This record gives sequence, structure tokens and C-alpha cells, in this order.
Amino acid sequence: MPYAHITGWGMAVPEQVRTNDDLSKMVETNDEWIRARTGIRERRIASEDESSATLGAGAALCALEVANLRAADLDLIIVASSSPEHIFPATASIIQDRIGAINAGAFDILAACTGFIFAVNMAAQSIRSGASKNVLVVGAETLSRFVDWTDRNTCILFGDGAGAFVLQANEERGGVLAEVMHSDGSGGDLLSLPAGGSKLPASLATVQSDLHFIKMDGKSVFRFATRVMARATKETLEKVGLEPEDIDLVIPHQANTRIIEAAARGLKLPMEKFMVNLDRYGNTSTASVPIATVEAFQNGRINPGDTVVMVGFGGGLTWGALVAEWTGPLPSERKVRHGWFLFLARIRSVLLRILRIVEGLLWGRYRRKKK
Ligand SMILES: CC(C)(COP(=O)(O)OP(=O)(O)OC[C@H]1O[C@@H](n2cnc3c(N)ncnc32)[C@H](O)[C@@H]1OP(=O)(O)O)[C@@H](O)C(=O)NCCC(=O)NCCS
Repeated sequence: MPYAHITGWGMAVPEQVRTNDDLSKMVETNDEWIRARTGIRERRIASEDESSATLGAGAALCALEVANLRAADLDLIIVASSSPEHIFPATASIIQDRIGAINAGAFDILAACTGFIFAVNMAAQSIRSGASKNVLVVGAETLSRFVDWTDRNTCILFGDGAGAFVLQANEERGGVLAEVMHSDGSGGDLLSLPAGGSKLPASLATVQSDLHFIKMDGKSVFRFATRVMARATKETLEKVGLEPEDIDLVIPHQANTRIIEAAARGLKLPMEKFMVNLDRYGNTSTASVPIATVEAFQNGRINPGDTVVMVGFGGGLTWGALVAEWTGPLPSERKVRHGWFLFLARIRSVLLRILRIVEGLLWGRYRRKKK
């Protein structure tokens, strides 16, 4: 059975920074309160020409670069997003086109902030089953578009950004070794975006009632999160016969420092074992774990042989974890010229669009002639 190694990782965040002081000019809040209750100092906000797909594609290209893999060699793309580009087409399809992954099937999954963990787990299972060899997993968000900037309970928490992993099949032991995924739909109303779907399609009434914004019962979500983080971690470790003290680094969903501290207490691990960067990005939902992973690599906090746990929770309610073993760089082929492939992919995409227009015109002429 092949192992599912994480061979590439990348991130893309908007340039625009919104600090707690900026927020204190928009709602009745202050830097001290936000830092004490959440640990967040600032977050990134997408510009008008950025979206979940553009950020996701940026992160994907960085991950392919690290993996030294051509987009055309991907056979599957899974995108997790709480703020997808549309209901359909899938954000994964848009990213597939943008990066030129011409041989990949692409689809989205929705499990709110746990989405990235679930997507990596599905990618790993697809590789272990032999169905896929090279899989791209992306977590991409522009939650700033769904935040009510007059609601101080929620607007202080979220930020925009994207992160991505490349997973590849390899016979050498390592990579994602075990995973757990859980849901409790009875708590769905604790964190939701009520309108815009088939139950409450967009209407004047839904817009006037602010139903296109994130709604959250912060206290209940907090209690749920502190319960499940340590539990999911232990459950995953048990599957491979490991104990919390065997972990070199935990990369948790970056929602709130107090939630991460509760997880550390539950696992009896020091905070030094946890990667925390939410102070600079806030809660980027599905993007938070891969963004934290990229920065963990940049800071030398993941080394060959390390055992790493990724654990998350979110709306749904959903929660899950995975345990991965880093083996260090796997043997790579000759250096891929990404710029050249991207250029060819863009030309191919434009030609396909032109072809579809020509085909439509010819088809119309044929039908008219037949009449
Ligand atoms: C949202 C959260 C930070 C609020 O912290 P809290 O300690 O529960 O704060 P409370 O909601 O009890 O509010 C305490 C007081 O601060 C006030 N307050 C709320 N937001 C505030 C803000 N941004 N600035 C200043 N005061 C604020 C409240 O109105 C309340 O005042 P009151 O006591 O006079 O009624 C916290 O509940 C949390 O992090 N929950 C989890 C959210 C989350 O992670 N969501 C994403 C999941 S993926």
C-alpha cells in the first residue's frame, strides 16, 4: 500500500492588513480586548480583484513549486472553503483551470473550518487506495466578504488567505498515517451563514435581514472547541500507537489562543509544542492549518523524522485530526519550469474558450440551414 506523503506546501495572503486599532474605528472594541480574548492582533483583507480562487491558485502554485511537480501531473484537486467563489462551479474547477492542471478531476468540499483537515484526509485515503498518485489540497477563504463589519462579536475574528498541500504516493513509510473525522449536525445553528443557499435564496428580505452574514454563538462554539481538540488528537494518535508526548509539533486550527491553550492542557503538552500564528492572520478558516504549516517550515519547526498532528474544528459542527510523519525531501525529478507550463496552460484555456464560441456559432448556422 503506498503512503501519502505531504511533499509540497504553499500559502498566499492579501497584502492589506486590518489591525485591531482599525477595527476599533469601525465597531465599539479595542486592541486590548481582542488580544486578551482571542490572541489576534491583525488579519489580512482581500482587495477587490482577489477572491478565494485567486488566493487558492497562488497557494497551489507555491505548493507545486516546493513539490517540484507539474500541475499537469496532478490527478485530483480538492478545495475546502467556507467562502467559495460560487455555489457552482466549484472553486476547485476554477483553480484547476488557473494553474493548468489539465489531467485532474476537481471538486469542493464543505466542512467549514475543519474542511482542510477533512480534504487532506480524503486525499490521503485516495492515495492509499491506489486511486490517485498526486493530489492537490487547497484551503481558500475570503471570509471578509461574509463578515458583518458592524458586528463586534464576529468581525474581530476572521481573515482572508489560502494555503495548499501537495500529497504524493510513495512506497517509503511516512506522510499521513492516520486520521479521524467527526460531525454533529445538531449544532449547525451555532455557526452559520443562513442565506444564499436553496433554503433561503438571495432576496430583498434576506439582504435587509442581514442573513448573508456569518452568525455565531461564540460562547457555545468556544465550549465545543475546547472539548474536541485534545480528544480528536488522542483518538488519531491511538490509531498508530502513539502518545501525546511522541508529538513534535501540533498545528491546530488558528481560531483563538485560549482554545489552543485548552487543547495543550488537555494533552498535557507545553504551548511550545503548538504552532500559533493567529496573531497575524486571525481565523482564516480552511486556510489556517496550511498557512501555519508553511510558517512552521519557514521557522525550522518541522524537521525530517518529526511527528506532526494537525487538528481542527468548525461549523457543522465538524472536527477532525490527522497525524503525519515527515520523512524529509523525497527523491525529486529534474527541476520543473513552472512559469513555462503556466504560460502554456493559460494559452490552452483561452483557446478552449474561443473554440467553444466558434462551435456555438457553427452549430447555430447548421441549425438555421436545417430549418
Ligand atoms: C467570540 C469570543 C472571542 C468572545 O469571547 P467571550 O469571552 O466569550 O466574550 P463574551 O461573548 O462573553 O462577551 C463578554 C463581553 O464583551 C463584550 N464584547 C463582545 N465582543 C466584543 C468586542 N469585540 N470588543 C469589546 N467587547 C466585546 C460582550 O458584549 C460582553 O459584554 P457584556 O458582558 O456587557 O454583555 C469567544 O467566545 C470565542 O472565541 N468563541 C469561539 C469563536 C470561534 O472560534 N469561532 C470560529 C470557529 S471555527
